[in-house]
Amino acid sequence: MKIRKAVIPAAGLGTRVLPASKAIPKEMIPIVDCPAIQYIVEEAAKSDIKEILIITSRGKAAIEDHFDRSPELENVLLSKGREDICNQMLNISNFANISYIRQKEANGLGDAILCAKSFVGDEPFAVLYGDDVIRSKYPVCKQLCDAYEEFGLGVVGIKQVTKEAIQKYSSMKVDLIKDNLFKITDMIEKPKIDEIMSLYAILGRCVLPPEIFSILEKTELGAGGELQLTDAMKKLAQTEGIIGVDFIGKRYDMGNKLGIMKANIETALDHEEIGTDFRQYLKDISTKL
Ligand code: UTP
Repeated sequence: MKIRKAVIPAAGLGTRVLPASKAIPKEMIPIVDCPAIQYIVEEAAKSDIKEILIITSRGKAAIEDHFDRSPELENVLLSKGREDICNQMLNISNFANISYIRQKEANGLGDAILCAKSFVGDEPFAVLYGDDVIRSKYPVCKQLCDAYEEFGLGVVGIKQVTKEAIQKYSSMKVDLIKDNLFKITDMIEKPKIDEIMSLYAILGRCVLPPEIFSILEKTELGAGGELQLTDAMKKLAQTEGIIGVDFIGKRYDMGNKLGIMKANIETALDHEEIGTDFRQYLKDISTKL
């Protein structure tokens, strides 16, 4: 079945990137000249998904403004002969058909996904975490949608991380199917060293069957007193199994300060307008490090 809808949870408090996220949503923190969430919406659109729901919360109106038209700005740009930039601005408002819903309290990712129940209805859907930007020639969301179409099971994007890092993520029990595809039959959240099932963790993207909603509704509050999406995914893995895609792409965690800097530096190096100058600048300062 083809995936037509995507949900982007963006209602978290972003406490790890304060004070940047105090008055602007962390999902609007820029990578050079585009807010993080724009890369994510573009990834969904490039994956042939045209219906997107962004889960927002109080103080996140800048996200809606960003994907809206801006007639005043467009007129000024046109009057100055800047049709190129004007078209870029128009393009942002045409990526997809975007709807919004507010999560009333930041009660966890599982609770945020539950807010998408009526938007999603009875079909599988993609989830792109609002603070995980993944650069890839072939959109990672599309890589996961392809796996859903092939296997008809829930799909998660996975990557191997270090032994230290896996203790902060969920560790997957994996069996290789072929190439970069795995069957996942169990997982453990924040494992202790002797509980690690593999170094594969879920990172930033998944495709979920609609049954996830009834599972979430029966799932008890987990770590931090929040409704955890991974707790519901674990049930899915243990019952029907889910597919893990060791995706091709470079992921940046925009939810922490080091991730923001890595995303900015690597994107700036490839940037059409400033790439060459920035590379020279980095070379110059690196001799003084
Ligand atoms: P995170 O756990 O990274 O976001 O969730 P957070 O809670 O904002 O982070 P910190 O720990 O306070 O810094 C991943 C994605 O899920 C969204 C976030 O906005 C982020 O894009 N999220 C998280 C929600 O939409 N609602 C929630 O209740 C929690």
